[in-house]
Amino acid sequence: MANFYITTPIYYVNDVPHIGHAYTSVAADAIARFYRQQGTNVRFLTGTDEHGQKIANSAVAAGISPQELVDKVAQSFINLGEVLNLSNDDFIRTTEQRHKEKATWLWQQLYQKDEIYLAKYSGWYAVRDETFYQEEELIDGKAPTGAAVEWVEEDSYFFRMSKWQNALLEHYAAHPDFIIPASRYNEVVSFVKQGLQDISVSRISCRWGITVPQNPQHTMYVWIDALTNYLSAAESFWPADLHLVGKDILRFHAVIWPALLLAAELPLPKQVLAHGWWMADGQKMSKSLGNVISPISLCEQYGVDYVRYFLLREMPLGNDGNFSHEQFVNRINSELVNNVGNLLQRVVTLAHKNFAGLIPRVEELSADAQELYRRTQDAPEKAKHFMHNYQIHLAIEEAISLGRAANEYIDTMAPWHLVKTDASKTRVVLYRLLEAIATIADILAPVIPESSKKILEVLNKDASGYTLLPANIIFPRL
Ligand code: MSP
Repeated sequence: MANFYITTPIYYVNDVPHIGHAYTSVAADAIARFYRQQGTNVRFLTGTDEHGQKIANSAVAAGISPQELVDKVAQSFINLGEVLNLSNDDFIRTTEQRHKEKATWLWQQLYQKDEIYLAKYSGWYAVRDETFYQEEELIDGKAPTGAAVEWVEEDSYFFRMSKWQNALLEHYAAHPDFIIPASRYNEVVSFVKQGLQDISVSRISCRWGITVPQNPQHTMYVWIDALTNYLSAAESFWPADLHLVGKDILRFHAVIWPALLLAAELPLPKQVLAHGWWMADGQKMSKSLGNVISPISLCEQYGVDYVRYFLLREMPLGNDGNFSHEQFVNRINSELVNNVGNLLQRVVTLAHKNFAGLIPRVEELSADAQELYRRTQDAPEKAKHFMHNYQIHLAIEEAISLGRAANEYIDTMAPWHLVKTDASKTRVVLYRLLEAIATIADILAPVIPESSKKILEVLNKDASGYTLLPANIIFPRL
């Protein structure tokens, strides 16, 4: 059986989860569920990034120890995973022993290969981004992200990243799908072409981190620590097939991480996918603007499947998107409620009323059903193709457009009239419609697993056909 190892970034535990975190996780979850549906042996990893100055500062601000803070907030990410119905196989926390061991092991590999050396660092550092910045990158004395920077001058270990510039460029050239979408690939390639500098990989000033084995005065730079999580919990699955990340952290995953792995002589991940950012009603989400959308309250308000559906349907993986409640309600009502839900309701009600819910399998294909039949046959292949390209929104669209075709078919055939004159033909019409509905439920299963399961339960299909159960409302109107 083929393997597929997919990861989300590990989330900083300085603050509660927001919709951006939920998005990365839900997209990875849909992909993981899709691969499992195809019979692939999937490992889906998510977790929390718990070291570094940012976390240490948050703990001070909260008046608790870093360990207390990370235990508390990590739990809120674990809970979010449950609320979002994530199917992750593991949850890694960087404060776990298994991770500390792996990070230390990787460090030792690099150190022994002389890829790490001690020197002095002086430069700008933004704690909010846990990132070093060059003087010329600053805008009005701040990081390009708007984060405040501080001047850091201390002894520090460095990783010889400059040495890996050509090897990286060769790798990109030989693997044009290493970074997707293509526009991001081009960005990374031109960034690396400009030249790479050695990077600082340890801190003396930050005490909340994994100790550098050669020198207990130092802790590992939080990003080196964090990236190693993908190895710590890989079991036998390394290399990863897909690192799903937001565009803001692409460089760490597409430049620093592969350079570290090359230096340690470890296999590289097969692909890094950078997704875009959600805005709220056209504005960047931020605490200071007070417009941060909580995924937990969204799920309470709308139900988890509607949230998953909207996130994956509205924003093509790779683009930026906008969250608005109005658009949310429109999408759900027009695509799930009026289209799929209504179709299911009509067909199941007719079948119960006229045939005690029994719709046996038929082989015959009347001329009127050919179009719907063909679309029902083709839709799974098309959807699969889109999912393989991580075009989740198009796979969804495939299911919805099959729903539209089925609704048109039911309107044309008007089985509620037909049944008065030709009951057996009506049954055949309902059979074709149920086949379409079952296909829609299969395609949507990775996106809305609970609802899809409910639909398939109602359909109750076996080799001889459908023995329908009563249909409760699966998609309530918003
Ligand atoms: N801890 C690092 C990742 C280390 S991975 C080895 C980190 N954490 S984070 O919590 O700040 O962000 C995690 C993910 O959430 C990133 O992929 C980021 O792009 C994503 N999002 C944060 N805000 C977002 C939006 N508004 N929209 C979409 N995703 C965004 O970075």
